[in-house]
Amino acid sequence: MSDEFEFEIKRKDGSGKTYFQKYNVPKDKVSTVLEGLLYIKENLDQTLSFRYSCRMEICGSCGMEIQGKPRMACSTIIEDLKSDKIRIEPLKHYKVIRDLVVDIDPFFDKYKEVKPYVIRDDDGKYDKELSQTPEQFHEYANYAMCIKCGLCMAACPIEGSDPSYLGPAPLAAAWRYIADNRDKGAKYRVEVVDGENGTARCHFAGECTEVCPKGVNPSFAIQKLRKTALKIELASIFGR
Ligand code: SF4
Ligand code: FES
Repeated sequence: MSDEFEFEIKRKDGSGKTYFQKYNVPKDKVSTVLEGLLYIKENLDQTLSFRYSCRMEICGSCGMEIQGKPRMACSTIIEDLKSDKIRIEPLKHYKVIRDLVVDIDPFFDKYKEVKPYVIRDDDGKYDKELSQTPEQFHEYANYAMCIKCGLCMAACPIEGSDPSYLGPAPLAAAWRYIADNRDKGAKYRVEVVDGENGTARCHFAGECTEVCPKGVNPSFAIQKLRKTALKIELASIFGR
């Protein structure tokens, strides 16, 4: 067995043509994919570009395609990939800025559309703490774990064929706030997510839930949103 990993990284030359560049990384120096990339940057090729910050699966910035699947570089243990050859590409469905760095602005623009914060209908005039029982907290706790890494957007087949689709993370965020007992923004959010670019597009492929590094279940959130939209619609018809 070799004492080196072979990193094969997708890059672009000056004319915009893509190619895979190979680097040999000593096994005894690295354990995660991010450490491998840092080894390359520090010892072999300073021109290689990638994004990271926390190194502990919190900031959400080191997402990339590793062995053909969206993953966080900082929490991907190379040994778990069961291969000495590691293929790395930028996340799918995003515009590549350089090497492994993609433009995530369109993702955050979609995220903002669902107003990802508690909306009140009392102009902030409440005079007491907005209390919450453990049961009420657990209604949305899963969805609050999202670190906005965008991996689910790269895994979603609908997102790939139609960039106007809101996508799994923004939809999961819409449900996170609707399910929060302190929030009063359900009606507004349902209008956004029930529109032509929202939940109706989802085919429940489930890839979003499968790749999420934090165990968030956007696929289930989308089902909940559909039911809530129907309830609100029926209530408006029957006046209840
Ligand atoms: S739902 Fe999961 S995969 Fe999608 S952005 Fe949030 S943490 Fe990342
Ligand atoms: S560096 Fe922050 S999530 Fe990987």
